[in-house]
Amino acid sequence: MTDSRTTLHLAHLDALERAYATLLDTHGYDGVLLYSGHPHRHFGDDQEASFATYGHFLHWIAQPGLSHSWLLIRPGQPPLLRFHAPADFWHLAPQIPNAAWTQRFTIETATDAQPPSVLASRAGKRLAVLGDVTPELADRIGAELNPPALTRALDELRVRKSDYEIDCLSEANRLALAGHHAARDAFLAGGAELDIQLAYLGASRQRESEVPYQNIVGLNAHAGVLHYQHYDIEAPEHRRSLLVDAGHRVAGYAADITRTWAGPAADTQFAELISGVDALQQALIAAIRPGVGYVDLHHSMHHHLGELLRTQGLVRCSAESAVESGITRAFCPHGLGHLLGLQVHDVAGRQDPRGEPLPAPENDPALRLTRELEAGMAVTMEPGLYFIPLLLEPLRDTPAGRDIDWQAVGRLMPHGGIRIEDNVVVGSEGPINLTR
Ligand code: GLY
Ligand code: MN
Ligand code: MN
Repeated sequence: MTDSRTTLHLAHLDALERAYATLLDTHGYDGVLLYSGHPHRHFGDDQEASFATYGHFLHWIAQPGLSHSWLLIRPGQPPLLRFHAPADFWHLAPQIPNAAWTQRFTIETATDAQPPSVLASRAGKRLAVLGDVTPELADRIGAELNPPALTRALDELRVRKSDYEIDCLSEANRLALAGHHAARDAFLAGGAELDIQLAYLGASRQRESEVPYQNIVGLNAHAGVLHYQHYDIEAPEHRRSLLVDAGHRVAGYAADITRTWAGPAADTQFAELISGVDALQQALIAAIRPGVGYVDLHHSMHHHLGELLRTQGLVRCSAESAVESGITRAFCPHGLGHLLGLQVHDVAGRQDPRGEPLPAPENDPALRLTRELEAGMAVTMEPGLYFIPLLLEPLRDTPAGRDIDWQAVGRLMPHGGIRIEDNVVVGSEGPINLTR
């Protein structure tokens, strides 16, 4: 960790201690126990599924992948970390890093996965336990399991990022971008989806099990499968398009970046559409500032998409009527973006600052962020324009379908689609784009 990040990290921990003390007091708890979680086994097998450490635990403990460990927060006392280091000759046990942050914790190493024994003397205290814990265990230690009001309040604490968190997100972006450049080069050199994926992992220096979400590497029509999950091992005969949605983690903080490229066999209009989506994404980012409603930005994306479809001749109606008739939603069925942090789709995107629900609008059920922007939030901005038969075909025989140039759609369909995704911090004066 760089010296400056160490300083920022210690300030982050100081602020967390103060915030937890206030929240626990407000909610009437003497302490909260956070469980890291643990990997689960495949049924009937001895192999474990991939695992992500619980976000509220990671908020304090910068050790992604740590499992079977506990963190007890009691105001007025140093946080107690029960660090699981099993006596295991099959695997390498985790080690407490030689880092300044560890001095802020009382650390017990443990070969078992039991919660801290200090809990036995908690008589008369009110305790909450958060995480992937069984009701039986919560009962045994006399703690309330995942109480919703406290959980929402702790989620809210993760919404505005500290300078340390922004530094981690920024570094995650730098590393992911090295992967994106290598992915583009592997595509232009004729690589298959698997070659592009391996080039991404190699250049961004990460193994596949460590990426914050499964990389999406789609050639041609696969670029129109929103969460395409395979890597073909053969390159297609005609290389029209590549969409790569891939990130990186730094101390648990995720980058989530998408780029789309035109290939040697692309229709010339596809490259123009990529530039169009890129330009509208930058215009939407320029509008970011505290007090702006993210739902309004999402609606603005649809108006920009309607305008792009019109100027590119894909629709013959006005941008307004392309939005109103649902055409733009058939070309882009997902939301403009989401909060970003220790989870790629970070917590509290659909609640207000008091924890009250803010559901997605009826026409935009996939929108994951419905709040007003505040300084310190980190968000993704990821407009898309896709040629998805499942969504476009049903329009063909409707009044809206008469406004669509089906011949152009047919030409572009084998390119799949376009998404351009950047990670942006809401600064007090405007956007801070971590990706460009
Ligand atoms: N990578 C998933 C998303 O962009 O939300
Ligand atoms: Mn993404
Ligand atoms: Mn995203």
